[in-house]
Amino acid sequence: MATSRSGQWYGGADRNAYIHRAWMRRGLPSHAFDGRPHIAIANTASDLTPCNMHLDEVAEHVKRGVWEAGGVPLNLPVVSLGETQVRPTAMLWRNMAAMAIEEMLRANPIDAVVLLGGCDKTIPALLMAAASADLPAVVVPGGPMLTGHFRGVPLGCGTDVWKLSEEVRAGTLGAAEFQRSESSMIRSKGHCNTMGTASTMGLLAEVLGMTLPGLAGTPAPDSRLLEGAHETGRLIVEMTAAERRPSTVMTRGSFLNAIVALAALGGSTNAVVHLLAIAGRLGVELTQDDFDRTGAGVPLLVDLQPAGRHLMDDLHRAGGLHAVLAEVRDLLDPQASTVTGRPLVDHLDDARIHDHDVIRPRHRPLQAEAGIAVLYGNLAPDGAVVKPAAASPELLRHRGPAVVFDSVEDLHARLDDPDLDVTADSVLVLRGCGPKGYPGMPEVSNMPLPAKLLAKGVRDMVRICDGRMSGTAYGTVVLHVAPEAAAGGPLARVRTGDMIVLDVPSRRLDVDVPDAELAAREPAPAAVSAFARPSRGWQRLYVETVQQANTGADLDFLVGSSGDRVARESH
Ligand code: FES
Ligand code: MG
Repeated sequence: MATSRSGQWYGGADRNAYIHRAWMRRGLPSHAFDGRPHIAIANTASDLTPCNMHLDEVAEHVKRGVWEAGGVPLNLPVVSLGETQVRPTAMLWRNMAAMAIEEMLRANPIDAVVLLGGCDKTIPALLMAAASADLPAVVVPGGPMLTGHFRGVPLGCGTDVWKLSEEVRAGTLGAAEFQRSESSMIRSKGHCNTMGTASTMGLLAEVLGMTLPGLAGTPAPDSRLLEGAHETGRLIVEMTAAERRPSTVMTRGSFLNAIVALAALGGSTNAVVHLLAIAGRLGVELTQDDFDRTGAGVPLLVDLQPAGRHLMDDLHRAGGLHAVLAEVRDLLDPQASTVTGRPLVDHLDDARIHDHDVIRPRHRPLQAEAGIAVLYGNLAPDGAVVKPAAASPELLRHRGPAVVFDSVEDLHARLDDPDLDVTADSVLVLRGCGPKGYPGMPEVSNMPLPAKLLAKGVRDMVRICDGRMSGTAYGTVVLHVAPEAAAGGPLARVRTGDMIVLDVPSRRLDVDVPDAELAAREPAPAAVSAFARPSRGWQRLYVETVQQANTGADLDFLVGSSGDRVARESH
């Protein structure tokens, strides 16, 4: 029998094996080193990642399952990212977390890993890392918060912040009331309870085949999450014996399934960059166009904020992810496998919808076509994305004059200026917010609307940006414009007053300026001077090597996998 990975550290009677074992003892009995699998629990618990604070408790239950199945569980705290806390944007650190986690998985004497994540970037970073290290791996999604109520109605994390803050700006909600809503919104442990990025990526982790079937979407405070964590501990030991690795679980079919699910769930646009980045680590061929081709015609079945009304708690009660997947079963790749070794679709037989208000049956969708549309044109030669389900239908075909902002600071300084020349027909353009320009591609594309238009009752306008938008946001927002302004994209050469032509049905995004004239223009100096120019450290490495949104915004040298081998001994 081939020596296990941990056995390469602990097996034998030589000096090195002695050192590896002796320092690990601290209570571990001798039989811990008899060749049984050592399982890392890559744990993103952190007091500064409030959505993941409860993961230490989850880890304890994973440990019980690992012990029960004959493995040795080892807690491995890894870089964590609190979406609401870290500046300039958590996305700047996604690749750093993925790189650090990958290296620690490879460097340590472990045979497999359980990945504990929750808040937006944590599950993508964990999956990217696991894909590149390619050790047997399984995710326990930390789960969403319970629904909080304010003024007698449910409050959705994120989505209602935008709504309430617009009420404050429109003068219909007082500052004290606004503040009082804070603890109603964040009612329990867990991540945002809207169909934002965290919910989306937790659910898609399961669709990719990477969780215990039926676990994703279980609310964080629910006992069933701990039960699932225990079962996952047992499962990873079995997976280790079967050598069931991310590269065998996550195939092109798994990603196409994730794209179908993303549409049916009404998931976050951020899933586009995350799925592309994970696929890039696996060498799975996946392009931005696959999202449009495979997802655009998929019906929206889940009535959750921000596109709809309900929250993650409701989705779970209504039958959860499996009930949704069962409705679109014919669109799923029947071969795509999971951590159980069985295809995803095999786990859907018992799925039922228990509340048709929350999960619509296929014949009565919320929207007939709900996926992400990918637009091209002289404003986005490498593409841009828009989520029609979160947009205003009447704005999906629109022609209007650009009002251009050179940076987020410029936007904030001028947006509410009563003299700003803007109408409801204007198109707000914000540049310098791509991966290189900001840096880190922040969630600023869903620009607030000018106060004077809000006061007139305007609630949506066409907005265009090279950044991302929060998965909890809504509106007619064209985002991920590639190449970004700071990478030579035409967005840098648009001027206020240029006519912008958005045509989502035709998948076009253009500025009505002759190509020769657009090419001859210099990038706007005010925009150029606002681009990030970090002189050292991670930010410099990031800006110099980050790829554009249309391929997942990973660092160029992190694409691909190095497997689990380490070349040399440490002593
Ligand atoms: Fe953590 Fe929303 S802030 S999931
Ligand atoms: Mg977010």
